Amino acid sequence: MSRILGISAFYHDSAAALVDDGKIISAAQEERFSRKKHDADYPFNAIEFVLENSKIKLSEIDHVVFFEKPFLKFERLLETYLAFAPKGFKSFSMSMPIWLREKLFQKNFLFEKLKQHDENFNDINKIYFSEHHYSHAASAFYPSPFNDAVILTLDGVGEWATTTVAIGKGNDIKMLKEIHFPHSLGLLYSAFTYYTGFKVNSGEYKVMGLAPYGNAKYKDIILKELIDLKEDGSFRLNMKYFNYATGLTMTNKKFEKLFGQKVRNPDKELLTQFHMDIAASIQSVTEEIVLKLVSSLANDFNTENLCMAGGVALNCVANGKILKNSRFKNIWIQPAAGDAGGSLGAALAFWHKELGNKRKSDSAKDEMKGSYLGPSFNNDQIEKSLKSLNAVYKKKNDEDLIECVANEIKNKKTIGWFQGRMEFGPRALGSRSIIADPRSEKMQKELNLKVKFRESFRPFAPSILREDLQDWFELNCDSPYMLLVSNVKRKLQIPMNTKDKQLFGIDKLNIKRSSIPAITHVDYSARIQTVHKETNLRYYNLIKKFKEITGCPILVNTSFNVRGEPIVCTAEDAFKCFMGTNLDILVCENFILYKNEQNSNLIEDYKNKFHLD
Ligand SMILES: [Fe+2]
Repeated sequence: MSRILGISAFYHDSAAALVDDGKIISAAQEERFSRKKHDADYPFNAIEFVLENSKIKLSEIDHVVFFEKPFLKFERLLETYLAFAPKGFKSFSMSMPIWLREKLFQKNFLFEKLKQHDENFNDINKIYFSEHHYSHAASAFYPSPFNDAVILTLDGVGEWATTTVAIGKGNDIKMLKEIHFPHSLGLLYSAFTYYTGFKVNSGEYKVMGLAPYGNAKYKDIILKELIDLKEDGSFRLNMKYFNYATGLTMTNKKFEKLFGQKVRNPDKELLTQFHMDIAASIQSVTEEIVLKLVSSLANDFNTENLCMAGGVALNCVANGKILKNSRFKNIWIQPAAGDAGGSLGAALAFWHKELGNKRKSDSAKDEMKGSYLGPSFNNDQIEKSLKSLNAVYKKKNDEDLIECVANEIKNKKTIGWFQGRMEFGPRALGSRSIIADPRSEKMQKELNLKVKFRESFRPFAPSILREDLQDWFELNCDSPYMLLVSNVKRKLQIPMNTKDKQLFGIDKLNIKRSSIPAITHVDYSARIQTVHKETNLRYYNLIKKFKEITGCPILVNTSFNVRGEPIVCTAEDAFKCFMGTNLDILVCENFILYKNEQNSNLIEDYKNKFHLD
């Protein structure tokens, strides 16, 4: 038996993961427990959760693996500083993680932290360090359903690498190519996130969401001035325009001059067509780079499979294009593609690479269990929480609950849907989700403004039964983690149910794209989650029931939180968010709660409760 604890911390999105004899048992991000979005501190609560979930103590863990090598990172920070000295000192001292500044002997530092969980944890030699991009690559390949694959990792920066290509075969991963800091696709995208007035490391999604509203007018300027892109997808940035290596901002005055406008101040300036065009331009450049990288890989290696991880792999629009335009037949992306997933990758890398254990190669499905790897709560625990919160609730059996909720969605009610194990990764996949009717014209605006308290342009994603995917979207593969974008079919031909077949005398109904406006982006694209009964039966059953009633096998699915708030973790978080927003109904396992039956004194102002993200 070998239990491995993987830890990612002190950069962005701290997390812990537990791997037992090579099996992924649990994983969670610290922010869900601490309620601090993107919490980068030591993940005390996440570690407590994975231990408790397996009913073990830390001293019963065989190996602890940290997701990156602090000395390599220190070296990168130091060399960057020296290369630009004295210009970069301020940023050098600011960007160096506090723990690294204070405790260069990080192994001892980590050991002391770990002891807080269990004083009997007394073997410092159980602590190991993986490399940042190796952890990403391992998180992408080992849980994938492929026996061999090209592995592409893309992010802002780890130690030195920002982009890597590796080849995975059986239990081995070999790193083949690397692009080093400061040349970084992640940081290039972040520079534009910063320039359009969004927050770096979390606002990248907004840039991607904004892109379809603009024209890629500035693409040529970016390719001519900012980046030297080679045919094989390798690139170098022109550092004349960027400030991140030495300063405290992403871009500089020359950058502003190049595009003719200053960095947008989100408190004072609204988004204009200019920002949408900028977003469209950087999105298009990103897609071009990723496609070039991927096509050159397809030429170099004899495999049909591609695995991806790293923050840039969350760019689902680019991923959809890879699938459509590259020679790779299959693509698998780690759902926790950002640094949180490094905890899982580090643990898996240790099991397979360091300890030399073989992988199961017979599986057609991946090993992520739908990414439902976080905590769950049973009905007794939930009832206890609801009672202590003075909530008014009813309990229903499974069948009645599904029937009732499906009907309420049809009646255009917005639902907080809390059940099963919490998702690992940034997307809510039907365990901690807000769900609604995609056929409603008003739903997108209403959910954005009244429930999520965020910009009205933000699109929503559809959850669709896997078997109905091809009737509605131009996609024909699993997308369980909402990481692929595809177009809604031009003309939808929806098979009729038996009753309607008799009634109307036809087998298929022709309807237009506009029939599911709440999940269709302006360019007719949608970020798709395919729902599978093997991984989330209750959610599957709900959508199936909704289909029975309405003919539509799709629900709007957005994460259960408001702007700036980490996704809810416990029933208490869910109830508070429910009361603080205009959600109509809350479902926690078998309990159903209606807003209009609750004590209005329990309403909290959620609109201004969280810092903007
Ligand atoms: Fe990373």
